[in-house]
Amino acid sequence: MESAESPQPSDELLPQGTVDRRPLARSTLHPPPLLAEPRSTSFGRVAFAHPAEAEFARLLDFYRISWLYEPTSFPLRWDGDRVTEMFTPDFYLPEHDLYIELTTMKQSLITRKHRKLRRMREVHPEISVVLLTRRDYYELLARVGYGAVEITSLPEADIERILYSPVEIADRVSELGAEISADYAGRAIVLVGLLKGVTYFLADLSRAVTRPLAIDYLAVAPPHQGQTDRVRFAKDLDIDITGRHVLLIEDIVTTGLTLDFVVSRLRARRPASLEVCVLFDKEARHLIDVPIRYTGFVIPNDYVVGYGLDYRQLYRNLPFLCVLKPEVYARDHGAKVASMNGTNWN
Ligand code: IMP
Ligand code: MG
Repeated sequence: MESAESPQPSDELLPQGTVDRRPLARSTLHPPPLLAEPRSTSFGRVAFAHPAEAEFARLLDFYRISWLYEPTSFPLRWDGDRVTEMFTPDFYLPEHDLYIELTTMKQSLITRKHRKLRRMREVHPEISVVLLTRRDYYELLARVGYGAVEITSLPEADIERILYSPVEIADRVSELGAEISADYAGRAIVLVGLLKGVTYFLADLSRAVTRPLAIDYLAVAPPHQGQTDRVRFAKDLDIDITGRHVLLIEDIVTTGLTLDFVVSRLRARRPASLEVCVLFDKEARHLIDVPIRYTGFVIPNDYVVGYGLDYRQLYRNLPFLCVLKPEVYARDHGAKVASMNGTNWN
């Protein structure tokens, strides 16, 4: 972002340049902005040219969206061998391969920037860059953070903390998929998902596994009155797992009681092997020792929602994992949930 006081910042004019049209990484000033360490969310250490940039960086940090500040300068015009005009977008979001130029509402600046962006697209058509006004922030967030969820139905102020962004979850799920594929080389698998929280995890994980596989589902529910079991199967498997390699997929483990019940029941059916894969593990809360072969993330002891996990059937479709502010639960309890009459199971 350029401040209104300095309409021609010096960094955009090169005294002596090169005819090389490639973007110039500022590797002479800073370490090269390589993306090996994608979580460069340390805006406290970055000297921003404009307060709006600091605010934008804070927002990106909150949503755990990786960013780099002005990592690249793109030559736009030349006079012979000399670069006479450059463009240095304010931010780069490596996970989304997107450059962002922030702009104030001042019309003269917007016009100039639009001109620059047009030129940028002519000279560097392969680079994605957007011009963002303050009002556009949330539109961008909807794209890179909120997915399909309306930002107005869960404003930032209602979120205590985002634990994992959609990109972080996707990366970890691919890693798990690769690990499982390698471990099950030469074998076919039956993936058994525990409904309903496992919905997205199973959908994503199964596509990251390169072994032949079948998918089946189990649902557990509280015991009927008078029954001695802690829980029961509200939906049992369709597939006979005897002699098959079974991988039980669970969204989250807290006490381990649910998994323990399910594992003991499935083991009785004599599968060739039975392993457990859990995306989120509140390890500190285990009451029972459940042998978990694959763990996505060990998380703190907070109630979490998103990426399939619900609070009274709500918030499953948030693409990130987050802790909500206590007020939100109170409010939902009174309003939104009243009509849903949902059970609080899985
Ligand atoms: P456990 O039997 O105590 O391990 O609880 C496991 C089940 O409780 C999971 O299958 C989830 O459906 C639910 N659960 C546990 N913690 C959370 C949470 O933080 N958010 C949403 N659901 C949870
Ligand atoms: Mg700038």
